[in-house]
Amino acid sequence: MADIIDELLKRSVPLIDRELKRLLPKDNSSLSRAMRYSIFAGGKRFRPILAIESALCCGGEIKDVISAACAIEMIHTFTLIHDDLPAMDDSDLRRGRPTCHKVFGEDIAVLAGDALNTLAFFVIAQNVKTAKVANVTADLSAALLKVVYGQVMDLEAEGKKISFKKLENIHLHKTSALIEASAKIGAVLANAGDRQVKAMTQYARHMGLAFQIADDILDAVSSVKALGKPARADEKLKKATYPAVLGVPGAEKLAHDHLKKAIAEIAFFGKRGESLKALAEFAVRRRS
Ligand code: IPE
Ligand code: IPE
Ligand code: MG
Ligand code: MG
Ligand code: MG
Repeated sequence: MADIIDELLKRSVPLIDRELKRLLPKDNSSLSRAMRYSIFAGGKRFRPILAIESALCCGGEIKDVISAACAIEMIHTFTLIHDDLPAMDDSDLRRGRPTCHKVFGEDIAVLAGDALNTLAFFVIAQNVKTAKVANVTADLSAALLKVVYGQVMDLEAEGKKISFKKLENIHLHKTSALIEASAKIGAVLANAGDRQVKAMTQYARHMGLAFQIADDILDAVSSVKALGKPARADEKLKKATYPAVLGVPGAEKLAHDHLKKAIAEIAFFGKRGESLKALAEFAVRRRS
């Protein structure tokens, strides 16, 4: 698994970073600097890599999907900038650096998020094949709307005891939705058939849940040094998380259950699904 992941990263991260460089504004305004600061802070690039691997698995090529993959990373980074604001999770550290609002101020950080969000849809309009623009735009905007609802539910659940079902619903919205859209958009841009798109979407839904459960576990058991963002922040904010509801061992078991379900969904792709399987394992076993 580690070998496959290393290969994927070595192949895709430089391509993603090069395309992001091409797409981001190059001027020296505070807004553009703030956008570049957060985009090039060293995120894992999990979602764009997923979009690429999904496309490749469905018989597509990297060039069909790279711009949309970068648009997804812009959306993701925008949600992180806003997630870290004092009005939300109030976090000082992200991707191993002071958060955007700590460096550029809250006003510019809000606007850098807005600009990344808008730029993402502009990139899709300009770079995705005309016949696919409406589909990709609909999938991505529907996913983002879910993220926003998920973030509201996350904030409103602070300090409350909520049911397992409600917690799963938060995670499905705030995290699975964009991961699902990444896999789906990759498949759609590779001209995948309905059955392939469906398998890919269900795989990513389980992987998205596993990804956020792992994020919650890492917050509880890891360190600021390993994570590049504060540890034990969820406890401080009294967040509704899986470790809070199930304990760490219960949360670990659930992450593995979702991993198994994700892998079962891509059995459909046979040997071509190897990279997707490795990505699902990475979602659960990652250290940051
Ligand atoms: C963090 O996402 C926010 C969650 C949805 C858990 P990542 O863990 O993908 O963060 P980066 O992009 O690598 O910084
Ligand atoms: C955030 O979840 C999910 C987003 C939509 C940004 P978290 O609040 O748990 O993410 P981290 O732990 O700050 O990265
Ligand atoms: Mg949050
Ligand atoms: Mg947060
Ligand atoms: Mg977290």
